[in-house]
Amino acid sequence: MPEDLERAKGVAARHAVEHHVRPGLRLALGTGSTAAQAVRAIAERFPDGKFDCVASSRATEELARELRIPVRPLRGDDRFDLMLDGADEVSPALDMTKGGGGALFREKLLAHLSGSVVIMVDPSKLVGALGERASIPVEVVPFGRSILERELAAEGYRVRLRVGPDGRPFITDNENEVLDLSPREPIHDPAAAAEAIRRHTGVVETGIFAGLASLVVVGFPDGRIEERRPPVARRT
Ligand code: 5RP
Repeated sequence: MPEDLERAKGVAARHAVEHHVRPGLRLALGTGSTAAQAVRAIAERFPDGKFDCVASSRATEELARELRIPVRPLRGDDRFDLMLDGADEVSPALDMTKGGGGALFREKLLAHLSGSVVIMVDPSKLVGALGERASIPVEVVPFGRSILERELAAEGYRVRLRVGPDGRPFITDNENEVLDLSPREPIHDPAAAAEAIRRHTGVVETGIFAGLASLVVVGFPDGRIEERRPPVARRT
């Protein structure tokens, strides 16, 4: 099954690159195994293509550079034509949970700056409501973490500090920590839940991405593709 899902991610990534990427675009690159497959597909399909790229993580930046796709730092007046990214959960309204790779803050910032956000997933990511399959990552300032653990638990979440393979707190590219929240029941109003979490001092960003996807490409292991668009076109 994991191999099937990897294949499905590749199907989604190659489809997104084939149909939505062309040289000359200002590109925001997401993070994770599906986004990595999209970066590889860009390098294969456009070996001499000129792109203006910003990456949402050091990992993606390194991969892109290895593949000779130039990546530059974010600038004050940046806008992107297209962002390509994965997701941990996608609801029927195309709201998402993201941040499994810990890049949620940069991913959300780049998504807000992008005219079109194309999300590539395997079918295991499709859920009836957010929180069903994945926990909700929240990037927090380390100084306030213990206070936030208590406050968010008091709001009914089961709160776990994300740790790395060495058992120490996972540290994001922004030098922050991540709390993974499991809601008591699936989230039916993602925008309201995100807003309530963000109100806590010390929260940098939540992994709830409400109303940000322009298109979700679902890849299947047998090569099939399904494209889903939001009921209301995304504000750009
Ligand atoms: C990273 C993310 C990823 O897009 C998300 O975790 C999906 O990852 P993958 O493509 O490896 O399944 O949000 O912060």
